[in-house]
Amino acid sequence: MEWVIEVKNLVKDFNGKRVLHGITFQVVKGDLFGYLGPNGAGKTTTIKILLGLLKPTSGKALVLGEPLAKNSKIRSRIGVILESDGLFARFTAFENLDFYAKIYGLKNNAERKRRIMKLLELVNLYEYRNVKVGHFSRGMKRRLAFARALINNPRVLLLDEPTSGLDPEARNLVRNLLTKLSKEEKITIFLTSHDLNEIQKICSRVAILMNGKILAIDTIDNLIKNFSEPLVEISFIDENESQRVYEYLKNLTYVIDCKRYGEKISVILNKDQSKLLQDLLEINARIREITKPRKTLEEVYLELVRRGC
Ligand SMILES: Nc1ncnc2c1ncn2[C@@H]1O[C@H](COP(=O)(O)OP(=O)(O)O)[C@@H](O)[C@H]1O
Ligand SMILES: [Mg+2]
Repeated sequence: MEWVIEVKNLVKDFNGKRVLHGITFQVVKGDLFGYLGPNGAGKTTTIKILLGLLKPTSGKALVLGEPLAKNSKIRSRIGVILESDGLFARFTAFENLDFYAKIYGLKNNAERKRRIMKLLELVNLYEYRNVKVGHFSRGMKRRLAFARALINNPRVLLLDEPTSGLDPEARNLVRNLLTKLSKEEKITIFLTSHDLNEIQKICSRVAILMNGKILAIDTIDNLIKNFSEPLVEISFIDENESQRVYEYLKNLTYVIDCKRYGEKISVILNKDQSKLLQDLLEINARIREITKPRKTLEEVYLELVRRGC
């Protein structure tokens, strides 16, 4: 398995206070990996260690197989967004990107210009290319930071809250772009976000971090499956029918819990629902609808954070 990011037993203390307690996770090539957690969980600290901006107290944090030192060659294959946008207010949008493009060694003037224009179009800032960034809204700066992160054609993106401060339209733009970069160009993306809905829409795998410890790490599908109770909701044609079926269901051995709300019954089973369906047919239950509600990532996250385990 090719690991693009590998973090092993990572520990970080600030002035004797432990903020990362031995974190371990890996991100494979082409993954869109979400790093979730409440404020102060240690997300930014992890990204800064991955970037070589902070030294770990102990443990490993490798990107493309190496710890990122200041002058590491691998830096040129990585795109970054941190909490501050790293833009110059007195430069125009174009000049900002031009500055970074030169740092990355794009020497050919025509080629550099083409690439900058393409990126400005990609983040919908082309018509503002000659406006000084000092006049930009927070959302515009964030989009420009995103273009800046892509200037060197990176293979890996490390993004700390890339969509914070964006309006819904710009969020959508960045979201689609991330999905595209990951799917079509196989760019590996590691991002932190507070927006669980967003993470659920775009990420394949997530880690949930709290107080410097990983509470869960898995694909979103698995997390939801593991946290969803085997719950089935059944609506009947009227209340008499739901009452009749309720009296029957509550005595069945495989029914762990059973609640009736008017025409509806919700049942928790200790086996899959095929036996229940058979038995309902057997007693000629007059059913309107059967649903199996799935938890959202947000519900799983809140449950994990509440338990703190
Ligand atoms: N430079 C620092 N010095 C001391 N404590 C810090 C420093 N940076 C972060 N912390 C502390 O480390 C913890 C994790 O912070 P951070 O990684 O920024 O969390 P997150 O990004 O998940 O909100 C917090 O308790 C924060 O106060
Ligand atoms: Mg942070």
